[in-house]
Amino acid sequence: MSLPEVLGRFAPDCSSLPQTVFNDPEVLDAELARIFTRSWLFLAHESEVAVSGDYVTRRMGRDQVIVSRGEDGQIRVMRNACTHRGTLLCKATLGNTSHFMCPYHAWTFDNTGRLRGVPEARPAYGTFDKSSRDLRRARTEVYQGLVFATWDDDAEPLADFLGDFAWYLDALVGGDGAAWEVAGPPQRYTIKANWKLSCENFGGDGYHVPYAHRAPIEGGLFGTEDTGTGGPSGRVVWTPQGHTARVGYHPAGSGIPAYHGYPDEQRAEFAAKAKPEVFAVLENSDVLHGNVFPNLSFIQTVITYTGDEVEPTAFLALRLALPISPTETEMLNFALVPRNAPDAWKQKSVLACVRTHGAAAGLFESDDVDNFTAVTFTGDGAIAARTDLDYSMGARLPRPEPDDWPGPGESVPHDHSEYTHRAYYTTWLRHLREDA
Ligand code: FES
Ligand code: FE
Repeated sequence: MSLPEVLGRFAPDCSSLPQTVFNDPEVLDAELARIFTRSWLFLAHESEVAVSGDYVTRRMGRDQVIVSRGEDGQIRVMRNACTHRGTLLCKATLGNTSHFMCPYHAWTFDNTGRLRGVPEARPAYGTFDKSSRDLRRARTEVYQGLVFATWDDDAEPLADFLGDFAWYLDALVGGDGAAWEVAGPPQRYTIKANWKLSCENFGGDGYHVPYAHRAPIEGGLFGTEDTGTGGPSGRVVWTPQGHTARVGYHPAGSGIPAYHGYPDEQRAEFAAKAKPEVFAVLENSDVLHGNVFPNLSFIQTVITYTGDEVEPTAFLALRLALPISPTETEMLNFALVPRNAPDAWKQKSVLACVRTHGAAAGLFESDDVDNFTAVTFTGDGAIAARTDLDYSMGARLPRPEPDDWPGPGESVPHDHSEYTHRAYYTTWLRHLREDA
């Protein structure tokens, strides 16, 4: 089936879509060309490249890049491929260096991407304009400690790309992204599923929680009984850029302890730094998860069980879904902790993160990944390619009246719904229908 035929099968409001979007190589090629070369893509947390010379290697779509902090303190993103004959320039995943020397013929680039050294330049080349062979750089901007880059020189500024969704990222980090750090390098693992399945799930999908995650919930893993059961407190949020979130919001008087799962001193720090209306939401929520279009997901919640401890412990995870092929995705899981929290608490928080959402073995992770893999698995067939999936939950009901939700963007207190999925695919479809 051709790409125009696949795209033509979407319902106008994305309440149904062809299953082959999770399996078709032509769809992934179009995503790489039309989404991953144009959108602002998350790459790293600022704390991973804290001092001059620090670098990590990552991917933008399937393109290899280096994220590096120069001597001038600026963070830059550049292709991790030698401009001579294309070999991988830096094979390490992280380190500190002022220069990268190519393993093939030893061309040497500084950590801003400029070609500085070419062995035997004069006898081998005569004249050689080194500046014509600098590494290609992507535009780079940082928001709340989150490093994003885009290949599109004409892209809107990052602030416009995030739009109203920046408010929810502010809430996630208690108003100060620089107060957080990544606890160790991110976990990396590969799943046999299409990359979008994780993103659409993180962006909402309260519906799956009591069913897919029944065992850990019944085992008492959440700090409150209400989380995951739907009910009146769950809410979904989305913005026109395709950014989506789900918030377990318990207004004052609900009996849910305010801001549980963080140490008291941490709560005071959030209160001092976050805007009051942001803080009011954060301290009355027991889960906030979402997805920044296209592939940066996040979750902050409270887990009761953290090994030997039963005290509710909060954690914050970032999750990057990087396509390898239509049916394979590399996942990066970043555990973030407040820099000033006590070390013993940080350790509990990281355990709460990786035991629930870590490298394919986390208690929630394995429930989710099993379903993402199974959707991709059943999508591989002649009849599957002609089958449409149902994303209509909530679409035929009257839209709930606007309420007193203080956050921006579109939002409904309708936890078990697919508003956010439709918002995600509406943006996805807009990109894919644009010319390559
Ligand atoms: Fe890098 Fe030749 S490929 S120096
Ligand atoms: Fe889940």
